[in-house]
Amino acid sequence: MSSPRVIDFTAPGRVNLIGEHTDYSGGLVLPMAIPFHTTASLSEPADDHYHFTCGMFPTKRTIARDDRSTRVGDWSDYSVGVLRELQVLGIEVPPFHLHIEGNVPLGAGLSSSASVEVATAAALLHHAGAKLPVGEIALLAQRAENRYVGSPCGIMDQFVITAARAGHALLLNTRDLEYKLLPMNTGALAACSIVVVNSGVKHTVTAGSAYAERRKEVEEGQTLLRERFGVRDLGDAEMEQLDSVRAELSPESYKRCSHIITENARVKRAAAAMLAGDAAALGQVLQEGHVSYRDLFEASCEEVDFLVEVAGQQPGCFGARLTGGGFGGCVVNLVAKDAVEDFVAAVKAAYKQHWQIDAEVYLCEASDGAVAEHPEIATEEAPDERDLHAATAPPLERSARRVGHRFTAPHAASVAGTDRRHDRPHRAAV
Ligand code: GLA
Repeated sequence: MSSPRVIDFTAPGRVNLIGEHTDYSGGLVLPMAIPFHTTASLSEPADDHYHFTCGMFPTKRTIARDDRSTRVGDWSDYSVGVLRELQVLGIEVPPFHLHIEGNVPLGAGLSSSASVEVATAAALLHHAGAKLPVGEIALLAQRAENRYVGSPCGIMDQFVITAARAGHALLLNTRDLEYKLLPMNTGALAACSIVVVNSGVKHTVTAGSAYAERRKEVEEGQTLLRERFGVRDLGDAEMEQLDSVRAELSPESYKRCSHIITENARVKRAAAAMLAGDAAALGQVLQEGHVSYRDLFEASCEEVDFLVEVAGQQPGCFGARLTGGGFGGCVVNLVAKDAVEDFVAAVKAAYKQHWQIDAEVYLCEASDGAVAEHPEIATEEAPDERDLHAATAPPLERSARRVGHRFTAPHAASVAGTDRRHDRPHRAAV
């Protein structure tokens, strides 16, 4: 008997350079895709059902084509949620067997969930012979997580995992989903690496989690600022406006909103530093971002603060901060390439000595998102090399809603010559 034809669809993980919790209040974020992957392997089933299996977890799931049951609380919800959202759009997906494998670290703030969602979306769109605009693929994956899985996440993860390009960070306005690709090798940044250190402390973004609580506190402030000043969302608000209503807000809400408003300003500074190739300025913004995330948003933990502090003491480290949803997970560090080896050794040794935890370390090149890997699923063409090298970036507009509209930045990086699908993060050997 011949084995069934299997087609693989991949989606990366992501690390957020800066712009934390700004993505559900019309703010700016600056993440990049990283070369960890989820692979969704698609094959024809022997029957008329949808079959879901996974290499990382033992549970399997089979559902009928007209099944509309709710989540079951395991890994399969992320894929079934995507199927559901395609059905809501009226996209008819023929029966399939979908097998998920992946190496995105789980619960580390590197978006393993969004990676599963986007890999699934790529596979099922292909299977249905359907295409969507880039932004709609990301929004569909986000809706799967919000409505089916029940996690109140924003749009950052799904968007960057869908739309990223190798060699670039992605500056996204989460209000209208306009974005710019910013080269990561301009000026002094060419001699820097993004080093991700996993604290080993697990985080979660589910309903009822600290993430959900923070989101409520942000929304409390946003609602008041809308009423008082007619701002569209916190992405439009100024600190003076927030200060003027401080007495009417809970202390928590005031602090969370202070973080968001100042974080949006930091994202702009970070983007400018990146375009200028100024590693010192970018590192400084990361460092300030951590202080705000720790003290105003109160989303850090002792282990992570320790890692950030030790990182800041190392020669060649320009800046470090907690990345992702918070309450554990990873620290993103900007480190001079020639200092990386010593940096990794020193941070790992200090962490082990203090916490008795072996920190995993990932050296991350900015990678392609799912649409660059699978252009046939999107109605827009992914930017080609010429675009990335030649385009001039207009300002990131904040007006019209243009879902998934892309601008490329000047001085773009070379993205030539790598087999990106098979790139893997380089686990530091020290
Ligand atoms: C998680 C969520 C994102 C975003 C970040 C915090 O990763 O999934 O939408 O809110 O946390 O910046």
